[in-house]
Amino acid sequence: MPAVVIVGSQYGDEGKGKIVDWISEEGDVVVRYQGGNNAGHTVVVEGKEYKFHSLPVGALRGKRCLIGCGVVLDPRQLAKELSSLGHEADLGIDPRTPIIMPYHNIIDIARESKTKNVTGAAIGTTAKGIGPCYEDEKSRVGLRFFDLISDPARLEKLIDVQFKEKETILKNVYGKEIGLAVSEIVKEYKELGEMLKKYMGNVSVEVQLALSANANVIFEGAQGTMLDIKYGNYPKVTSSHPLTGSIFTGVGLPLNIVKKHRFRTIGIVKAYTTKVGSGPVVTCLDNQKWPVEEAFSEPEAIYIRKKGKEVGATTGRPRRVGWLDLVLLKYSTCLNGFDEFALTKIDTLAGLERIKVAVAYEHSGKKITEYPAWDLRFLSECKPIYKELPGFGEFNADKYSKLPKEVKAYARAIEVYTGVPVSMISTGPERSAIVLKKGYKKF
Ligand code: IMP
Repeated sequence: MPAVVIVGSQYGDEGKGKIVDWISEEGDVVVRYQGGNNAGHTVVVEGKEYKFHSLPVGALRGKRCLIGCGVVLDPRQLAKELSSLGHEADLGIDPRTPIIMPYHNIIDIARESKTKNVTGAAIGTTAKGIGPCYEDEKSRVGLRFFDLISDPARLEKLIDVQFKEKETILKNVYGKEIGLAVSEIVKEYKELGEMLKKYMGNVSVEVQLALSANANVIFEGAQGTMLDIKYGNYPKVTSSHPLTGSIFTGVGLPLNIVKKHRFRTIGIVKAYTTKVGSGPVVTCLDNQKWPVEEAFSEPEAIYIRKKGKEVGATTGRPRRVGWLDLVLLKYSTCLNGFDEFALTKIDTLAGLERIKVAVAYEHSGKKITEYPAWDLRFLSECKPIYKELPGFGEFNADKYSKLPKEVKAYARAIEVYTGVPVSMISTGPERSAIVLKKGYKKF
C-alpha cells in the first residue's frame, strides 16, 4: 500500500543510492522509472562499495526489482551487473523499454566532439548513448526490450536497418567510421536477448498489483531535477525526466493511484552543490570551469571535492562544487512536491570554519528569488547572496539529538526556507550512518 518516491533535488549525485538501499530494507519492490546507465548509485556496506548503473539498488538486498519503460536499458551493462551481483536477481523488465545499442554510444561521443547544441558548447554527457537512444524512441525507430527478446530473425532485420542509418549519419554528418561490424552486433544482441528474456514482465501491472497487495514500493529516481530535459537547465541536461511526475509515464501508472495508496516523495539534498558537465551553477566555487581546473577553484571547493570524493561514479570525472543553493532547491521543491528531505554528505562539510547557503541572487542591482531555469545566460550573470552559518568539526552521532547544534541549525535553515522538513541526515558513506528525526518510519 505505501509508496516512496526518491528524487534527486539538485544536479544528480545527491546520494540517492544510499537512501534507496536504506529504505529498501523494509521495501518489497524497487522500481527504476527513468534514465539509464548514466546513473551511478553507490552503496557502501562494511567498507565495500557497490555501484549500480542499470539494476535498481534494491537488488543488493535481494528485493524484487523492476525496470519501467521510462528507462533506457543497455543490455551489456545490465548483463555485467547481473553477473557481478553474487546472487540471482529477482528482476522484471518492461517489454516497452528502449534498448541502448553500441551505435548510440558512438553517436553520443561524435556529437559531443562536434558540438551541435543551441548554446554552442558540449554538454559533457556520460557517453552512454542516453540521448541518441531516447531520440530513436521518440522517432519511433529504436529497438525495445520486446524486440530484443522475442524473435531473433526480426531482431537481425531491425538492427540491420538501424545500423545502416547510423553508419550513414556518422559518416556524412560527423565524418566518422562506425567502427563496428553489424554481424557481431547481431550475434551479441541475440545472445543478450536469449539471456535476458526470462526477465520480461508487465511492470505497470505488477506495480499496481503490488500496491493493492499492500507491498512497500520504492521508486528509485536517477539523476536530479536540474538535469530534467524540460525543467532543468536545457540543453545542459540529460534526456529523461528525473522529476516525481515521471513515475506515471515511466512505469505506466494512472493518476488516481495516489488517491488509492499512500505516496510520499523524499527529495535527496546534498549539503552542497555538485555538477558534472557544463552549464551555469550560480554558487559554483570552481569559477564555472568545466572540466574543473583547480588552479581557478576556491579552497573550499578543493576541500569539499577531496573530502567528499566528488568524482563521477560513472565517468570518474571531477565534479564541480559549490555552496548549497536554496533558490534552486525551492524551484525543485515546487516541481516535485517533496514531503520531506534526506540531507546527505553533511559530514563532508565538517572542518570548514563557515558554511554558506545562497538565499537569493543579485542581477543588475535586482534581488532575484525565483529560479529562471530556462535562461542560462541570465543565470550565468547572477551573483549569489549568501547567508553564512557557523561550521562544525568532525562528529559522531547515532541519533538526531546527538548531532552538533550547527548541523541542526543547517537543516533548520533548509526547512525554514523551503517549508519542507528534513527527516533524515546521512552522516557518512556507510549504510548505517544515518540519523532520523524522532518517530520516523520508513513506510
Ligand atoms: P547524459 O545523461 O549522459 O546524456 O549526460 C547529460 C548531462 O547529465 C551531463 O552533464 C552528465 O554529466 C549529466 N548526468 C547524467 N547522468 C548523471 C548522473 O547520474 N549524475 C550526475 N550527472 C549526470
